[in-house]
Amino acid sequence: MLRVEGDAEAVRYQSFEPRTADACRAYLARDTAGDPDRTCFDLAVTLDGSFIGRVGLDIKRPERSVGELWFMLDRAHWRRGLMFEAASALIDYGFRAHGLHRIFVECDPRNAAAVRLAEKLGMQREGLLRKHVCIKGEWCDSLYYGLLRDPRTPAGSRPDAL
Ligand SMILES: CC(C)(COP(=O)(O)OP(=O)(O)OC[C@H]1O[C@@H](n2cnc3c(N)ncnc32)[C@H](O)[C@@H]1OP(=O)(O)O)[C@@H](O)C(=O)NCCC(=O)NCCS
Repeated sequence: MLRVEGDAEAVRYQSFEPRTADACRAYLARDTAGDPDRTCFDLAVTLDGSFIGRVGLDIKRPERSVGELWFMLDRAHWRRGLMFEAASALIDYGFRAHGLHRIFVECDPRNAAAVRLAEKLGMQREGLLRKHVCIKGEWCDSLYYGLLRDPRTPAGSRPDAL
């Protein structure tokens, strides 16, 4: 995690600074403590048994059946289709096993990789919020991409999909 998220280039469009070892530990402590009000999948992406990134689905409001997707990959493995594969699997899991009806991504419009990945995942550009997040001390716009569950996808049919 430190190798991936300590990389300034990888976290360029994130609201947090490159993580130190202490910041990684603090994140993991928060993450594993859980939150009774939300369901959050924060999954390791591995290649040949090695950690190369994270993909997550945060269902903050279970009663609304909406999940936020995020992704972060080791720069050494960019542009090999790996996150498309990982995110596709998690989206499928969210729709089928959790009955979500909408999954969205928030990203910086300058983040060409995230924008293209969202499009490739079949998401539609839904809107732009101006000066919505503070990134490295600067107020930046946020783009929202969303995907709705295909009504033909049965919910709850594959709880073991991952
Ligand atoms: C975003 C990220 C996860 C993409 O992972 P990846 O495994 O490289 O993506 P994939 O290889 O599956 O590529 C998916 C599509 O995006 C395109 N793409 C990837 N990086 C790109 C870039 N820098 N510029 C333009 N397109 C890019 C790929 O070409 C592919 O599209 P195509 O098949 O039409 O050619 C990775 O760049 C990353 O970790 N970035 C830093 C963290 C980050 O910004 N996360 C997003 C926060 S919202």
